[in-house]
Amino acid sequence: MKIVATAALLHLCFCATAVVSVDDDDSTETALTAAPGDVALLPCYSAGNVTPTLTTWMKNGREVISGGVSSSPAGEQQRLAVLHDGSLNIRGVTPGDEGSYLCSSTLPGNNTFRARVLLQVAGGPDNISSSISPATTLSNGTLTVHRGSAVSFNCSASSYPSQQLSWSFKGATFYNESLVSSSGSWLDFRIDDIQPRDQGVYTCRANNNFTNQAVNKSTQLLVYYVPDTHPECMWTPAQDPSHVQFTCFWLGAYPAPTLHFGEDKGVQGAASGGHMNVTTVAESLSVMLNRSELSEGHTLRCTARHPVLAAREKECSLTLTLPFPEGEPLITAMDGTSVTLICTESTSIPPAITTWTKGLQQERINPGSKYAVSEEGPALKLTIFNITKDDEGVYFCHSENPLAVRELEVYLTVRTASSAYTGAIIGIFIAVLIVGSAAIIAKTVYSSRHRMCLGGGFGQMEEDRGDVLSLVESDDEQIFQDAVPRLPPITNGHQTTLVQIHRIPSVDHEDAETADTSPQQQDDTVQTEESVDLVTF
Ligand SMILES: *[C@@H]1O[C@H](CO)[C@@H](O)[C@H](O)[C@H]1NC(C)=O
Ligand SMILES: *[C@@H]1O[C@H](CO)[C@@H](O)[C@H](O)[C@H]1NC(C)=O
Ligand SMILES: *[C@@H]1O[C@H](CO)[C@@H](O)[C@H](O)[C@H]1NC(C)=O
Repeated sequence: MKIVATAALLHLCFCATAVVSVDDDDSTETALTAAPGDVALLPCYSAGNVTPTLTTWMKNGREVISGGVSSSPAGEQQRLAVLHDGSLNIRGVTPGDEGSYLCSSTLPGNNTFRARVLLQVAGGPDNISSSISPATTLSNGTLTVHRGSAVSFNCSASSYPSQQLSWSFKGATFYNESLVSSSGSWLDFRIDDIQPRDQGVYTCRANNNFTNQAVNKSTQLLVYYVPDTHPECMWTPAQDPSHVQFTCFWLGAYPAPTLHFGEDKGVQGAASGGHMNVTTVAESLSVMLNRSELSEGHTLRCTARHPVLAAREKECSLTLTLPFPEGEPLITAMDGTSVTLICTESTSIPPAITTWTKGLQQERINPGSKYAVSEEGPALKLTIFNITKDDEGVYFCHSENPLAVRELEVYLTVRTASSAYTGAIIGIFIAVLIVGSAAIIAKTVYSSRHRMCLGGGFGQMEEDRGDVLSLVESDDEQIFQDAVPRLPPITNGHQTTLVQIHRIPSVDHEDAETADTSPQQQDDTVQTEESVDLVTF
């Protein structure tokens, strides 16, 4: 009771400014505002501590209650009561209590005192509530919606006698005081295709027109989104060559996704497997793996989870596959021209890092006026300009992925004008030999024409010709065998490298060059075996 009374007194203080004194037949008029449900105390005679003997209260010309010192104290159940000093106490004010009240008090000495009180009922705004849907509520009360969805905003409040409702927005870049407003008890609006720019704080404001009291309700709204793309899985060599760094990234999601990197067991049932298991909340995730733990057929899988995807996941994976550089192993070019060596690497997963190197020392090739390196899809092209005899030799297309290094060996033969000249001389020599033999045979046949009909002679002539031909053939065979390099034996069932696969004999070599290159190729074989050790598991 005490608390209620205090509230009512506060109300009186609030309304003190609104007191209007109208001298109308010796009475004062007071305007009073009470909220529905409040206790209103309507004063009558407030000059000094005189206690009226009887006070009558009339409302809109009709008596509502009267009481005095002698009357019994107001019953608890009565809503209206005349207090000791003649004031009218109304508990649980309702809009129906509004009106013009008149009190008349009889003071000791039979003086009459009158006072007028105007009671206005006004309340609120109360029970303000807002809802934004469809949305998900975070633990801190912030709401989240997905980009592109249609979102409804609803606000309601109650005020007496009337109110103004409005929605305002404050985003990162702009502020809108009044998106919509109305004077009803509720206010709705809708954003059909919500975008990140609509992220911010939405405030519903209810303002009581009569009391000018206002209440706000603010809600933070976050607009979540994901890109249409899938995460990307890639690798980079680590500084320490025994390790390799795998990275998974998925850019353009808000908030940052949860990325997880894991491994499936190798197809071959490799003993290793499943020892990578990392999770982070970020746009990218990197893990460092010991190269010796990787094997062909092993699958590294990165899954991305995000509130927008709900239970679905997006992922990328790498099923490790050895590199396999392919290309023409033997190239011949003329002195002074330019030549392009092509190496195609299309099987490696993750994609190999492919480079061209020169010579057995595998020197790096720096692009410049001499060399140009270009990529065309899976093909890596090396163009050598202005070829000289110095460019002759072996080139390696070096293809490396986390599993292994594979090399394609390409042998470049440079034909000089002089060697072409030597070839021409040999050609002419052979031609002369054949023509000469033919002439000799013709002459022999002609000189032996008298013996033509005798079987033995003709047979002998055929033998002669056969000797010439077989001599040439056996020479060819000799050249061929010299040029064939011997493949190194395959040991321990180890895989052979492509270097070996591509080692095909050259029948184009000049005799002199064959002699030169044979020891070199012996060296190649040693080199090849080294790379076998490097790449086999
Ligand atoms: C509520 O949580 C979200 C996500 O954790 C955060 O972005 C937002 O700023 C928080 N809001 C408030 C009002 O703290
Ligand atoms: C990588 O793994 C191999 C074999 O499991 C091990 O011998 C080597 O020490 C590891 N290297 C590092 C740097 O952990
Ligand atoms: C090719 O070599 C010749 C002689 O060595 C030189 O004069 C010329 O400038 C070279 N051309 C290019 C494109 O390098």
